[in-house]
Amino acid sequence: MPTSAFPAFRARRLRRDDFSRRLARQTVLTRNDLVQGLFVCEGVNVRTPIKGLPGMFQTSIDQLLVDAQTCVDLRIPMIAIFPAIPSAQKTADGAEATNADGLIPRAVRALKARFPQLGVMTDCALDPYTTHGQDGLIDATGYVVNDETIALIVQQALAHARAGADFVAPSEMMDGRIGRVRAALDAEGFIHTRIMAYTAKYASAFYGPYREAVGSATGLGKVEKLQYFLDPANSDEALLEAELDLSEGADFIMVKPGLPYLDILQRIKQKFQRPTAVYQVSGEYAMIKAAAAAGVLDETKAILETLTAFKRAGADAIITYFAMDAARALEKQGF
Ligand code: PBG
Repeated sequence: MPTSAFPAFRARRLRRDDFSRRLARQTVLTRNDLVQGLFVCEGVNVRTPIKGLPGMFQTSIDQLLVDAQTCVDLRIPMIAIFPAIPSAQKTADGAEATNADGLIPRAVRALKARFPQLGVMTDCALDPYTTHGQDGLIDATGYVVNDETIALIVQQALAHARAGADFVAPSEMMDGRIGRVRAALDAEGFIHTRIMAYTAKYASAFYGPYREAVGSATGLGKVEKLQYFLDPANSDEALLEAELDLSEGADFIMVKPGLPYLDILQRIKQKFQRPTAVYQVSGEYAMIKAAAAAGVLDETKAILETLTAFKRAGADAIITYFAMDAARALEKQGF
């Protein structure tokens, strides 16, 4: 508590010069905090711009390796890869998700062969693989069925682990999936494969561009994921989900989206004090890009400010499509 008041005490004294601002600074964002999200598709030499995510591409595996090389050069610790599956391979049950030679396992094998030191995280959910665009299996009423979905998520996680994924990240919010995935990994001896749990994943309007990027938007139409993602109006259930995921063996817990949910991030970090990630999602990326393109804000400053805000709120790791941009800016500043 400040003991003296104005004029003896002046809060602006430490803000006056760069050296004292640096000394008083509590939160330091570095490249070690970043996970770059990338989209992969079939083909050779493909680099298709994603309309809703200016500056982001769907790339074939050979081009994914080019981007991974950039991440390695920038000392970004990990990438998270997401698949754009050809519509011909999509089915109601999303069975392609479990294919050992599917797009993601092939991408993981190529990445780990070339860059063993670069962490690779894969998403476990059925939405890129289902004709209806839901994250799981649906019954006749369209309800996403929990236990049957988990069985497929487990097979998907195993396919990724066998290919060499460092982190598997179940993102479909089924009850009990972290424990089942952990048990299945351990049963096959994958004791080092880590689990990033999408713990507090909200039913958010900010996933729009992602759904275009993985091609789930058309199948989904106007249908929402309200029956399995968290209600944006709630925060207590985020703590409950964190408790469950940690008790089931999650190595990292995640809050998603980022900026609208800083309070959730702070509550989870303060309560559990465990490795916590935040996901700056596609809609957040698109907003900053659109505002920068309109000339109403400085893109690099806005990126670094939002990422620093995540650190300040308690994030250990930040998944963002801006990781390479942020890393370049941070490298210039000596971080
Ligand atoms: C899959 C998944 C989604 C995102 C990451 N994994 C979309 C969704 O659940 O609808 C969203 C990421 C983003 O918007 O950047 N379940």
